[in-house]
Amino acid sequence: MFDVVVIGSGPAGYVAAIKAAQLGLKTLCIEESTDNNGKANLGGTCLNVGCIPSKALLDSSHRYYEANNNLREHGIEINKLELDLNSMMKRKDNIVNKLTSGISGLFLANKVESMNGRGRVLSANIVEVTKVDGSTEEIETKNVIIATGSKPIEIPSAVFGKHVVDSTGALSFSKVPKTLGVVGAGIIGLELGSVWSRLGSKVTVIEALDDFLPMADKDISKESFKEFKNQGLDIQLSSKVTKSIENKDSVSVTYLSNGKEINKKFEKLIVAVGRTPNSSEVISEELHIPIKNGFIEVNDHCQTKVSNIWAIGDVVRGPMLAHKGSEEGIMVAERIAEKHAQVNYDLVPSVVYSHPEIAWVGQNEEELKSKKIDYKVGKFPFAASGRALAVDQSVGFVKVLSDKRTDTILGVHVFGPAAAEIVQQALISMEFGASSEDIALTMFSHPTVSEAFHEAALASNNQAIHIGNKSK
Ligand code: FAD
Ligand code: NAI
Repeated sequence: MFDVVVIGSGPAGYVAAIKAAQLGLKTLCIEESTDNNGKANLGGTCLNVGCIPSKALLDSSHRYYEANNNLREHGIEINKLELDLNSMMKRKDNIVNKLTSGISGLFLANKVESMNGRGRVLSANIVEVTKVDGSTEEIETKNVIIATGSKPIEIPSAVFGKHVVDSTGALSFSKVPKTLGVVGAGIIGLELGSVWSRLGSKVTVIEALDDFLPMADKDISKESFKEFKNQGLDIQLSSKVTKSIENKDSVSVTYLSNGKEINKKFEKLIVAVGRTPNSSEVISEELHIPIKNGFIEVNDHCQTKVSNIWAIGDVVRGPMLAHKGSEEGIMVAERIAEKHAQVNYDLVPSVVYSHPEIAWVGQNEEELKSKKIDYKVGKFPFAASGRALAVDQSVGFVKVLSDKRTDTILGVHVFGPAAAEIVQQALISMEFGASSEDIALTMFSHPTVSEAFHEAALASNNQAIHIGNKSK
């Protein structure tokens, strides 16, 4: 009998399993994906076909782009620059292998057992595992944590095939497509669209909504839209694919753009219109655990209607982000061990790993307006940051939103160099209830791009040193 059986080994499941074992609980993690050695392939979407391989390619493609376009003014001439896509892909695959095998090592060190097979919750205390050879085994457990993640959404007008691919296909093209269509200007569309654009593809992004990045602060959406266009991404808003036909070496796509029908041929088409939870056939219907739009229903502590069955990560409500899933995993393991734990869902950071990065935490202006919260704005452009200019990354700004009455920081939005790291600093301060004055009174190293956060906090109270002050 196990104390905890975790189904799924992505960043939600493997972290939950390690934490549970560290708390002295006898833990098994079941994973259906199989590696080359016939063992469970750990790490889920994030490590295998998500966060890590995409960031590896973003880095490689950025280096190539810089070498091709931005070194001359530094006095560096490269006579013959060549792209070896095969080596770029090998580097990415090596990083993935290192990290996924690292999880096996962590399981061993923490005494987490793992099993390769498809898990299904049969009853409150029984999980059935269907092995690769079709045989089944029933496992008894005191608690179950479902962490089965999500998969790409497929749309009828662009069915996956040889040239129409999802994000996984887009991480391993064998040559750079001359022309690339991307359906969806969401995070995957922008990150993977950027990768292939930097490597030489002519990229058209087809986005259904009228607004660009509607979940981001409006100032950020506006600035970053311009920058993506400057970088060569042809982003068509208010556009919907109606038909796509696969040819021998290309795909013909028809889409309606502001009511006008447009036909285009692309070598490849990436469909990135969101992800859907892996919840079907994971729980026996006899348990009557509600599932809404594919998401397993849970309370704030990730507990389902059946008190010893929990669900975490992409398969439950909230943003589909690795760090959100991992924190839920830790919370659930601790609650099973009868400790007090919770996740602060108000402070989940978001990052788009474009160049420059886009990142934010907390509330944006639209949200504050809709809640009728009286706020003030402190903004600082990277164009006025010495370090940003020195490293040739002076596009964008830091924007700090704080409560007009109490000065408490309510949201921080960054478009620019190291945006993810700056937002992380902001998040830590917000966890401690910081005011913009607290940040203003803090010393920042010079020259760093983080100084822009300091100056934006100063600007919130009309005290910025390196720009004219104009707060709301
Ligand atoms: P998953 O990682 O999807 O893992 C679920 C695991 O469960 C899988 O291994 C699956 O095989 C297994 N499984 C499913 N059903 C069963 C079953 N019945 N039995 C046994 N095993 C099962 N997020 C970020 O925070 N930052 C990023 O930079 C980022 N980049 C991304 C880039 C791309 C291209 C993509 C696609 C996603 C990215 N994400 C990123 C999102 C992130 O990958 C997910 O939010 C995260 O992986 C979700 O973790 P999870 O553990 O809930 O599920
Ligand atoms: P997304 O939800 O971010 O974006 C999907 C986009 O497609 C939206 O803008 C939507 O309006 C558009 N769309 C939907 N249907 C459409 C249609 N028929 N035609 C045209 N456009 C359409 O989803 P995405 O990019 O697929 O990513 C999935 C998830 O993966 C994200 O929610 C995110 O949480 C996670 N992710 C996170 C990353 C990060 O943290 N850096 C990187 C990549 C993915």
